[in-house]
Amino acid sequence: MPCLLDVHADETESLARMVGDINRGLTGRPPTLPPKYFYDQTGSKLFERITQLPEYYLTRAEETILRDVAHDVMAKLRPRDIVELGPGSCRKVRWLLDAFEDAEDVRYLAVDVGRDSLVQAMTALDDRYPWLHVHAVVGDFERHLARLPLPVGRRLALFLGSTIGNFDSLPRQALLAQIRRLLGADGRLLLGVDLVKDHGELNAAYNDAAGITAEFNRNILRIVNRAVDADFVPEKWRHHAFYNAAASRIEMHLLADEPQRVILRKLGVKLDFDRGEGIWTENSYKFTRESTEAMLAEAGLALEEWYTDAGCRFGLVLARPAESA
Ligand code: SAH
Ligand code: AVI
Repeated sequence: MPCLLDVHADETESLARMVGDINRGLTGRPPTLPPKYFYDQTGSKLFERITQLPEYYLTRAEETILRDVAHDVMAKLRPRDIVELGPGSCRKVRWLLDAFEDAEDVRYLAVDVGRDSLVQAMTALDDRYPWLHVHAVVGDFERHLARLPLPVGRRLALFLGSTIGNFDSLPRQALLAQIRRLLGADGRLLLGVDLVKDHGELNAAYNDAAGITAEFNRNILRIVNRAVDADFVPEKWRHHAFYNAAASRIEMHLLADEPQRVILRKLGVKLDFDRGEGIWTENSYKFTRESTEAMLAEAGLALEEWYTDAGCRFGLVLARPAESA
């Protein structure tokens, strides 16, 4: 079937927004960078390598759950419209598509900021599932969800990989409330959440021995260099990731290895960093069943099913709009 491609974030507008975000982030105290900017082509490839690391259990654990529950979920819901937010390589949706019993006239809408990896992934899906109406949307799921086409039948929204964990409480609630609006009255959300667990295991997942997560973290500086004509030297920055138990989150930072001045030429900004001073690049919140239910409730969603892998490392939630109980 012909693939559709909507571009809601064209390059000029996206770049202007990114430049503003970088300016605000790096001149703030503490300096920060939004994690959505990790995913240029190199960043997306590094993320794919992270998903295969022995320490990064999240992807394997979630795929185990999907493998085990896909048939039941699809037989029960029989969705005609699947919307995925931040699908990356679109690998996980295959578990669900493979479980369809009467696959006909199903639409798959995928919303991601990364245009190149999205188009590549969608082409692969189109080849594998000739019955699927594939519709790629290049956009920011925090800003463009209201522009998505209306459901063509019962809608299943997918937000996998614990990407929800990369949002602090307020933007997280706003995003879930928007997702709830996407569902209509009888739609459902499948949400992946990484679970609170042994701190050693959490710390190891973000400090892999091969240094791929460190490379993923430092790559954001190359992205900033291109966007604002800056002169960060990524090799002079050290990856620092640790579990903050009080806040139930992994924090990822980049710390200056030596005192340095960085010039953001496009912005006319000079930044001075002392040795050990940092840029906060990501939070990755970890949840329990209770904290997941509370987060859903605040956004008008109710937990319908709670699945975990055998080791209770990862949670997959089926949620519905609260009023349709
Ligand atoms: N869901 C996949 C990929 C997770 S990586 C998995 O579970 O493995 C996070 C993905 O979300 C990346 O593909 C990134 O480009 C996308 N992303 C992050 N922030 C986004 C935003 N604000 N809008 C759209 N896509 C976003
Ligand atoms: C995409 N996101 C859920 C990943 C995470 O685990 O927070 C991104 C990542 N950061 C470091 N490793 C992986």
